[in-house]
Amino acid sequence: MSHNDAWMQRDLAVLWHPCTQMKDHERLPLIPIRRGEGVWLEDFDGKRYLDAVSSWWVNVFGHANPRISNRIREQLDSLEHVMLAGFTHAPVVELSERLVRITPPGLDRVFYADNGSSGIEVALKMSHHYWINTGQPAKKRFITLSNSYHGETVAAMSVGDVPLFTDTYKALLLDTLKVPSPDCYLRPEGMGWEEHSRNMFAHMEQCLAEHHREVAAVIVEPLIQGAGGMRMYHPIYLTLLREACDRYGVHLIVDEIAVGFGRTGTMFACEQAGITPDFMVLSKALTGGYLPMAAVLTTDTVYQAFYDDYATLRAFLHSHTYTGNPLACAAALATLDIFEQDDVIEANKALSARMASATAHLVDHPHVAEVRQTGMALAIEMVADKAGKLAYPWQERRGLRVYQHAMQRGALLRPLGNVVYFLPPYVITGEQIDFLAEVASEGIDIATRDSLSVAVSDLYPGFRDPG
Ligand SMILES: Cc1ncc(COP(=O)(O)O)c(C=O)c1O
Repeated sequence: MSHNDAWMQRDLAVLWHPCTQMKDHERLPLIPIRRGEGVWLEDFDGKRYLDAVSSWWVNVFGHANPRISNRIREQLDSLEHVMLAGFTHAPVVELSERLVRITPPGLDRVFYADNGSSGIEVALKMSHHYWINTGQPAKKRFITLSNSYHGETVAAMSVGDVPLFTDTYKALLLDTLKVPSPDCYLRPEGMGWEEHSRNMFAHMEQCLAEHHREVAAVIVEPLIQGAGGMRMYHPIYLTLLREACDRYGVHLIVDEIAVGFGRTGTMFACEQAGITPDFMVLSKALTGGYLPMAAVLTTDTVYQAFYDDYATLRAFLHSHTYTGNPLACAAALATLDIFEQDDVIEANKALSARMASATAHLVDHPHVAEVRQTGMALAIEMVADKAGKLAYPWQERRGLRVYQHAMQRGALLRPLGNVVYFLPPYVITGEQIDFLAEVASEGIDIATRDSLSVAVSDLYPGFRDPG
């Protein structure tokens, strides 16, 4: 038995993996990873995989980055943790000062949570609580975009709209208002991104006009709807949204969990629209992919609405045990140092141009409807019919074939449905990008062959095509 197999068996005897139908592992090998270095992950049999998705979009400066590891080691020697209620410590103060400095002007307060979904819960609760504290308790609903994703906890799911993740739990969800997304994949033939995004804003304007009295906040993923298939839109939508939220007295929550820290080509996506939201939620790349942490930044106006004598019961009595953990703060500080010292946002321009040129040929592929890109995120949409943009039925799991091919070739590509995407660590090289593009092209060829060599029902016994 190989080392991989041995670990896989031990794992499958006791673990339940995230976002996984565990029965898939009767056929799909689970990959036990022994170590990581830079863009590479290495399994227990010594095979290496180029991590094209930054391990769920977190690992921006590579695995086992010595600059981050050393900073955490230093922190370990002095303070591993202290609760943040009634106490503070140097890394959390320094990190908060830096986050206030680098985020859009006006975001002057930082509240911590310990993962992205919890950060979203904080922003939603804080927004509604603000309206209670300022005498407008009826403002308790949230407006969201179709196809959005904000996490897995119940309120975060409520403001999401990816049916695969939310439909089962419908009965538990908050009553939110959904507005069609400005997603430019769906724009009419020949129309530009800006015009489409601007046109789609009419739906948001109408919703705000009708419901603003009962709405606490609008929540959006700025520029890229990640889990919804890396769908993208133009910054004009955010500019219009900021202006309308101000006009209607509604908060704007911007979820930069996936896109913050350089993914869209600027440090934060909001910068491209020149806006300051009322709440900005950060996580994922915040700690360079080392430790779970989320930060919710907000304005002094929001903060002041909670600041009062204890007996008024206006305080935000929300906590997570690991709020502001010093090790996570140290990882975040090291990550911010790298951004600053290496002028990463500027350096990424060449990498993002290389991603574009390496995949340009795929535009002509008979089963590729679109190759789209925003900064360091690039997505390739596979379709059954190019002219009509007809999607492959999800049951065929074509993306899984790309994944399997890539794993054989030594690349970790993990498509979202029919969308193959690259969200690589920023330490990737031009040659490595070319390699990913080559593997993705081969994978797409294999996955879109009309008569697949293995029938879906063969791969998944018991599978019945509902069609
Ligand atoms: C935009 C966005 N918001 C929220 C989340 C949830 O973050 P977490 O998985 O840390 O709870 C994610 C995770 O993928 C995300 O992409």
